[in-house]
Amino acid sequence: MAILKVAKLGHPVLRRVAEPIKSGDIGDAGLQRLIEDMFETMAEYSGVGLAAPQVHHSIRLLVTEDIPDPEREGKLLAVRSAVINPEITFLTDEQIAYFEGCLSIPDLRGRVPRIRHIRLRGLDREGQPFDREVEGFPAVVVQHEVDHLNGVVFLDRMTDLSTLTYLTEYDRYFASQDL
Ligand code: NI
Repeated sequence: MAILKVAKLGHPVLRRVAEPIKSGDIGDAGLQRLIEDMFETMAEYSGVGLAAPQVHHSIRLLVTEDIPDPEREGKLLAVRSAVINPEITFLTDEQIAYFEGCLSIPDLRGRVPRIRHIRLRGLDREGQPFDREVEGFPAVVVQHEVDHLNGVVFLDRMTDLSTLTYLTEYDRYFASQDL
């Protein structure tokens, strides 16, 4: 396994629409190794999600990390997953907003409105159907990562740029209001 170099904002790969992965290619050793390396890279940089274009592969693949449930000790809101050719369906109009960060936009955070409850469909790393309802913070993570596959970053989704902040200032001025 390897820790991969992460593309930073300004690199054209982050603005490209990524290509679908052919189902016949899912078993390829190269793709499986990429998935492992993406998990390792995400963990190394303490990310909760990572999309393939962020590691210079313009293909429709994302990974998400285990997401602990802040209200239930030892329980998870979402489990570590790799999703190939993900598709989102919105299951509500209701929005939530969190301060998002991105490994491709280091040190910045900004508040982004997202849909609270979604359905995520695609294929898992064995090529089997992946179909899950996702709510709350994990739904935010999924929408953020699928945006990367369409050349969109969280800054594009911000409706109030006055909430854009460096991480140190976030801790100082915003963290207490981030509900
Ligand atoms: Ni990101």
